[in-house]
Amino acid sequence: MASISVAPVDRVFVLTGAGISAESGLPTFRAEDGLWAGYSVEDVCTPEAWKRDPAGVWAFYAARRAAGLKAEPNPGHIALARLEARLGDRFFLCTQNVDDLHERAGSVRLVHMHGELAKARCERECGRPPVEDRTIYRSLDEVGRCPCGGRLRPHIVFFGEIPLEMEHIEREIAKASLMVVVGTSGSVYPAANFVHWARQGGARTVYVGPEPPLNASAFTHVVEGKAGEVLSGLFQVR
Ligand code: APR
Repeated sequence: MASISVAPVDRVFVLTGAGISAESGLPTFRAEDGLWAGYSVEDVCTPEAWKRDPAGVWAFYAARRAAGLKAEPNPGHIALARLEARLGDRFFLCTQNVDDLHERAGSVRLVHMHGELAKARCERECGRPPVEDRTIYRSLDEVGRCPCGGRLRPHIVFFGEIPLEMEHIEREIAKASLMVVVGTSGSVYPAANFVHWARQGGARTVYVGPEPPLNASAFTHVVEGKAGEVLSGLFQVR
């Protein structure tokens, strides 16, 4: 099996997508039986959908919360947490996933660029930070309000909104000498561009997943396989 050498001077930036949680039983988005085969993005994941049908948007994310609560981290999440434990500040994880399986596996230095299922925030963007919210809402009447009066919306970056923590992410990519991308189809920007930014900075770039992503040609290595099977034996830390 392929192995990737991590030297004492290396700084590792990892980007994960839905594929890393697939072996925990959470569906990806673009597979034939994926989430976007059963739902339309325009109906559940846009600012317009939220304005038109907040009950429908909450119903979709309540179902995702219920599925996320039942799921457990798999060996892929655990391998990344173990790598972080060895590398400390030389490791950084950016996930597009809204589940909390990385945290539950032990990852600490991570950002959720597309938001978090277990949080909600004010729809009015009044400036108050997101709040913990794990309620599985059955109707819109159960959804709370912010002290300013705005309705709480899922703490999810809808299509058309700007991903979270972008300045922090860009700084970490600029410092990285190795980028490892796991389980993302390379179809959503800006995440699909991270590999290009890393290469501009001279980093090695590795993709891990069962099939090449759309941006496969930008990687220096593509390791074909499932995250849960590949990641635990992939890194040779020197
Ligand atoms: N291990 C690794 N990768 C896997 C596995 C696995 N066991 N199973 C599937 N994959 C890969 C697929 O080959 C695919 O390339 O995971 C990828 C999932 O791609 P998408 O469904 O497009 O998910 P993702 O790239 O994370 O989507 C990006 O799109 O809808 C939005 O906001 C949502 O964050 C999401 C973004």
